Order: sequence, then structure tokens, then C-alpha cells
Amino acid sequence: MSERFAGRVVVVTGGASPIGFGIAARLAREGATLVLGDLDSDRLQAAADELGAAAHAGDLSRRETAEALISLAGRPDVLINCAGGGVILPTPAHTEETLRATIDRNLWTTLYCTLAALPLMARAGYGRIVNIGAESVRNGLYRHAVYNAAKGGVHAFATGLAREYAEHGITVNTVAPAWITTPEADARLAAAPEAERRDMAGFFDRIRATIPMRRPGTVAEVAAAVAFVASEEASYLTGQTISVNGGSSML
Ligand SMILES: NC(=O)c1ccc[n+]([C@@H]2O[C@H](COP(=O)([O-])OP(=O)(O)OC[C@H]3O[C@@H](n4cnc5c(N)ncnc54)[C@H](O)[C@@H]3O)[C@@H](O)[C@H]2O)c1
Repeated sequence: MSERFAGRVVVVTGGASPIGFGIAARLAREGATLVLGDLDSDRLQAAADELGAAAHAGDLSRRETAEALISLAGRPDVLINCAGGGVILPTPAHTEETLRATIDRNLWTTLYCTLAALPLMARAGYGRIVNIGAESVRNGLYRHAVYNAAKGGVHAFATGLAREYAEHGITVNTVAPAWITTPEADARLAAAPEAERRDMAGFFDRIRATIPMRRPGTVAEVAAAVAFVASEEASYLTGQTISVNGGSSML
């Protein structure tokens, strides 16, 4: 494998998540020096130990935590905003708590980490910011309206910011996965009560119907796209949403 990230400091938020860890592992294999952030301190430490990364645990929807993470990185070359996660419910079933959690996890983490990293990248005249968005923003996936409100903000932030920093050596893009299977999600579902498994099977059938390849994507497929967008060679790519979606946006 090439060493596209040799000498580069890469911050991955949500580094304890299956996708965040997969991205971090991919970039580590390409030579990155990693700094991981996540709310889940135990899983974060395990991920950092496995990858030889530095880590900062805490709630990145709080500005001081985001600043502490970026300051641990010193001078970040790459920021992958992967902290997030859906509270996937029919819209009227959301509570005040789930509404706020959805926006906090996805949008505020991205805003605060990006705002902390930008001045450092601007001073260095180099930066790659990659937001992990969601294909559901584009296709209006069933039960995803509130999640889409949060991830839609993440997509929109990237396009606006890309224009502001286009002449400063900083690119800002979104990689938008569709339905990605992870061993963790499979195990959670296998342990769920029968009624929930039936409900989810119907839900997955609906999602599958939107994907021409008729299968979920893998963490490795997301990580491969992120690695390109985050690399130096993606120098003319900014303000874009790259869908990793098995063709699901094709009519
Ligand atoms: N799995 C999918 O099908 C899919 C599809 C599209 C997008 N995504 C996005 O990919 C990313 C990773 O998702 P995943 O499926 O691997 O697992 P996940 O949804 O469990 O990952 C979310 C991670 O973010 C962390 N996090 C949440 N709020 C945080 C906060 N306030 N501060 C710090 N960390 C916080 C969680 O602890 C967790 O490790 C998420 O942004 C998710 O929205 C996932």
C-alpha cells in the first residue's frame, strides 16, 4: 500500500465507531500519524491502542472538547468528521432528547472540530476536511428525516466552507455512505427481540430496494473513498459530496 499520509497528522472523530475505526486503520496503513476522538472512552482507548494513536475522549458537541482534541493534534493536516450516528425513528416518535441528540452528535461535533482545526490549517496553507455525511440526505430515506436535518447541515457546511477556503490550500468535502453493514450493528440486531428483528428486516428491504447493487456497503469501501478525498492528490476536489452508495442516487 502507498504511503500517501506519511508525515501527515490526521484527526478522526468518532474514532471508536466501526466506520471511524476503519477509516483510521486505512489511513494508518498509509502512514498517517493518528489522533482519535470519541465520546466512548473505553472503545476509544481500545481503538487507539490497536492503532498506536493518540486519543482524547469526551463530548465533541462541546466546544472545549473539540478544541482539546485539535490541540492534542498540534497541527492537523487532515480532519475526518465521523462522529455522529442516527436516532432513526418516524419523525413524530422523536422526543426533545432524541431531536437534540441527533443534531448534537452529527452537526455540532462537525462544526466545533472544524472551527478548531481551520485556523491551524489556514496558517499552514494546507488542509483536508472530510465530513462523513449520509446518502439519506439525497434520497429521503424512510424514518431518516431528523437525521437528515443534521447530516444535511453537515453536507451544506462543507460546500459553503469549501468556497471560503478554496484559495487557502484547504479542501472540504463530504463522503456520504448509504447503508453500511458493520459486525457491531449485525450483532446488535441478532440480539434484538423477534418483533424488532422483523421490523428491521422490512426496513432493510426498503433500503435495499433503493440500491441498484442490492447490497449494503462495507466499512472498507467507505474508508477507500475517504482515503482518496483526504489525500494530497485530491487537490482539485472541493465542495463535493462523494456518495458511496452502490449506485443508489441513479434514477
Ligand atoms: N452505518 C451506516 O450505515 C452509516 C451510513 C451513513 C452514515 N453513517 C455515519 O458514519 C459515522 C460512523 O457511523 P457507524 O455506523 O460506524 O457507528 P456509530 O453511528 O455508532 O458512530 C458514531 C460514533 O460517534 C461517536 N459520537 C457520537 N456523538 C459524539 C459526541 N458528541 N462526541 C464525540 N463522539 C461522539 C459515538 O460514540 C460513536 O463512536 C456516523 O457519523 C454515522 O452517522 C453511517
